[in-house]
Amino acid sequence: MLKKKQIEFYHSNGYLVLETIFSEEEIIELNSKLKNFKNHTLQPNVICEDNGDIRSIFAPETQEPLFGNLIRDKRVLTASEELLNNSLYLYQYKLNLKEAFAGKFWEWHQDYPYWHYGDGVKSPDMISVMVLLDDVKSYQGPLLVIPKSHKAGIVDFQHKAHLENKKDNLLNSLNSDLKYTISNKLVKESALLSSIVSLEGKRGTVVFFHPNIFHASNTNVSPFTRSTAILTYNSINNVPEKKSSRPDYICYRDSNPLQATI
Ligand code: SIN
Ligand code: MN
Repeated sequence: MLKKKQIEFYHSNGYLVLETIFSEEEIIELNSKLKNFKNHTLQPNVICEDNGDIRSIFAPETQEPLFGNLIRDKRVLTASEELLNNSLYLYQYKLNLKEAFAGKFWEWHQDYPYWHYGDGVKSPDMISVMVLLDDVKSYQGPLLVIPKSHKAGIVDFQHKAHLENKKDNLLNSLNSDLKYTISNKLVKESALLSSIVSLEGKRGTVVFFHPNIFHASNTNVSPFTRSTAILTYNSINNVPEKKSSRPDYICYRDSNPLQATI
C-alpha cells in the first residue's frame, strides 16, 4: 500500500519512483525472455529501428506469458489503483528496448494525445508504469520527465512540416519521428521552471507516470542495454466509446476491471 506522501508526490509532480520493488531474481528471469523476441522481428507488434534492432514489442505477454504476471501484480496494479483511485483495465503493454550502442531516442511528447486523438479516450484518467529490466544510468538513455508538466493538459505540438501531408501512419506514434511532440519553446519554458529529472535506477525499480507528463529519452550510446516494460492502465469508466481503428496490440479491448494477484 502506498503512503499518503507518495500519492501526494505523484499528483503534484506527475510521476513517482519506487526503488527496486522487484527482486533481482524476478527481473533476471524476465530479462532472460527478451532474446526470444529476436526471431519475431517481422511481426506487426514488434517495432524495429532502421538497423533491425528491436525498439518496442507490443503485447509481449501474448508471446512470453511471464510478462503477463506483471499485469495483475499488486506492486504495479494496486499501486496504480491507489494513484488513480479507481478500478483499472489494461490499455496498452509494451517493452521498450534500447540496444547497446544504438537504441534510439524518444522526442519530447505527452502520451495522452495519441490515446485521445488516436483511440477516442475521453479523459487522462490513465497511468503508465515503467519497470526497469536493466540497471539504468545516465548514459543508457533513461526516461526524462519535467515535473508538474502533467498539469498543462494537452499542449501545443511542434510543427512538423514533413509529416503534414503524409497519410496517417501508425509508425508516427511508435518511431523516433513522433507525430505529436511538444513545441521546443514550451519544453524550454517548462524545464526552466521545473527542471528535468532523469529517472535512473537499479533493475526492479518502477516509475509511475501521468499520461500528460512531458517526457523524452536520449539515444543509448553506452555498451549496455536499457530494457524496460511499460504497462498503461485506463480507468474502467473511461473506456473509448467507439472502437479505435488502431490494432488490438496497441489499444486493448478487454475493459473488464483487473484483480490484483499477489
Ligand atoms: C522511453 O522508452 O524512454 C520512452 C517511453 C515512452 O515515451 O513512453
Ligand atoms: Mn511516451
